[in-house]
Amino acid sequence: MFNEEITAKFRSIPTPFYYYDLDLLRDTLSACSQEAGKNGYLLHYALKANANPIILSLISAAGYGADCVSGNEITAATANGFNPKQIMFSGVGKSDDEIRLALVLGIQSLNVESIQEMVVINELASGMRLKADISLRIIPNVDARTHRYITTGLEENKFGILPWEFDHVLETLKTLDHLHLKGLHFHIGSQITDLDVFKSLCHRVNDINNWFISNQVFPQILNVGGGLGIDYHEPGKNPIPGFASYFNVFKKFIELQGNQQLHFEPGRALVGQCGSLITRVLFVKKGISTRFAIVDAGMNDLIRPALYQSYHKIENLTSSGKIEKYDVVGPVCESSDCFGKAVSLPETSRHDLLAIRSAGAYGQTMASRYNLRDLATAVYSEEEFNG
Ligand code: LLP
Repeated sequence: MFNEEITAKFRSIPTPFYYYDLDLLRDTLSACSQEAGKNGYLLHYALKANANPIILSLISAAGYGADCVSGNEITAATANGFNPKQIMFSGVGKSDDEIRLALVLGIQSLNVESIQEMVVINELASGMRLKADISLRIIPNVDARTHRYITTGLEENKFGILPWEFDHVLETLKTLDHLHLKGLHFHIGSQITDLDVFKSLCHRVNDINNWFISNQVFPQILNVGGGLGIDYHEPGKNPIPGFASYFNVFKKFIELQGNQQLHFEPGRALVGQCGSLITRVLFVKKGISTRFAIVDAGMNDLIRPALYQSYHKIENLTSSGKIEKYDVVGPVCESSDCFGKAVSLPETSRHDLLAIRSAGAYGQTMASRYNLRDLATAVYSEEEFNG
């Protein structure tokens, strides 16, 4: 991803910054839509992974719909070319204003996460003399076998409606004239690398789908969420996730009835590998048993290692010295501000440039101004996009 020419350019750019390889993004988008298209599956990009306008425009131009979790994400989606008719809106805590925005725009589906939310959407839609298209976000009780902070499909999670509530949901729906039940929605977690997890999801979706159909409710849309993981250890070898095997699991195990459509909401799998956080080494400091490479990016720029103890491959772009081990740490006043422990790097010194790889998803979108630090900017592989 980084040849000498690119590294030479990086030298003149203030750090830290996110670098996005747009060719890789385009290749990833077309690989995913090609594989999905073979089975007639529909795709909604999960904006929470990366909501950069340039990236959103490329994704919408590639024909994707959107999966949003806030009013601002809906606004960003429509401002960057997504068709409201292809927008899904999930979230356990939608505000009245956010619901109204979704209703005004006539989005494809509000994914409802509780019976109380159904009642509120009905009331708001009635006040606007509209009928709201909704799907039920269901907790299928499938273990995603991923980090507990990004597991969402288990009974104890706050997301969605539990199967033992279904009778009550259908009774309540009969009394709510301003709702139209369009589909069922599932999302069990993120960074899932074991495809058997999706097989278990398919079995649960089939059971639940059949339950609704046998109760005279036909879900037009089955939305199985996102979650496909990426290779954080070998981003160079595996820049594009195995979309074919992923969709094949669904092709094999999902039983669509009649003209039901299967929808997906990939986030990380589309944008994770195209982004890297580029940072400069400020100091190299000897600890008692370790050497610290202190860099100018911090946990406020990329919080994943601190929050989920997640691994990101780190490369020194400007040294070819002998390999040593370093703890790569940021300047923020927290011991968790560490990008990697005992990282093998060529001998590293002040002003070297490091790339923290696979940072395109949940990097920039989760950044904060903690310690009143400036937000990292975005730099694109194509000059015309650079401000
Ligand atoms: N759909 C829904 C309803 C979701 O909640 C999510 C992610 C997605 C789709 C997209 O999932 P993906 O394909 O990206 O796995 N900040 C964490 C990840 C949180 C994911 C939240 N939901 C991280 O950095 O690992």
